[in-house]
Amino acid sequence: MQLLVNIDHIATLRNARGEGYPDPIRAARVCEEAGAAGIVFHLRGDRRHIRDDDVYRLKEVVRGRLDFEMAATEEMLTICTDVVPELATLVPESREELTTEGGLNMKTVFDDFRERVVPRLQEKGIVISLFLDPVPDDIERAAELGAEAIELHTGRYANAESPEDARKELKRLRDGAELAHRLGLTVNAGHGLNLKNLGALVENVPHLHDISIGHALVSDALFYGLKTTVGKYIGIMKQAGVETKSNQ
Ligand code: PXP
Repeated sequence: MQLLVNIDHIATLRNARGEGYPDPIRAARVCEEAGAAGIVFHLRGDRRHIRDDDVYRLKEVVRGRLDFEMAATEEMLTICTDVVPELATLVPESREELTTEGGLNMKTVFDDFRERVVPRLQEKGIVISLFLDPVPDDIERAAELGAEAIELHTGRYANAESPEDARKELKRLRDGAELAHRLGLTVNAGHGLNLKNLGALVENVPHLHDISIGHALVSDALFYGLKTTVGKYIGIMKQAGVETKSNQ
């Protein structure tokens, strides 16, 4: 298991004043120095946080795993196959949403992804990860499509309104992770994770590989500093008795 830090909201803060700081690339460097195994960014169609030149600078600087989160539009496929990150995480994207709201509906996207998306990414050697809710049918279709990985959407778990709901969601995530693992898929997870809910996730859901965390981690960094904050998240993973890996 390893921590990948999503640095989108360092760019959000930078863009708020149109200045060059804080620099998301500098943040990426600090995260890796602090033990993160890689960096995630989401280049959105509206460029509300990460911009094209950030992507190329990240490619230069990031030493660990670089995860390019994107909608499967022609524009993003062109940029992604030019940059060639280690991993592309495909997500649904709508203009109005504040953040990614749900996983892909594999039934709807299957034919399009098989014909238009998967061959273009795989021919460049880019690992494909599909952002999914823990729905067995979607996970089975991801394997059938030939993706190497899925990212389980942990948002519902993170936003559960009662301990009972959180337990139910953890069970769905555990079952989803087990199914994906049986089908030979790498299992990643992310969305809404923070210092309070990460521990129970990593204790209860097996086979997790990359854990992608952004908004809460960047917010915590305002109070603890980025380096210390990354250490706190990795500490939680270690405390759960799971082996963590960093690129150090
Ligand atoms: N994984 C995916 C697919 C996402 O869309 C996001 C949000 O950009 C994250 C992980 C990180 O979520 P958060 O910012 O809530 O930690």
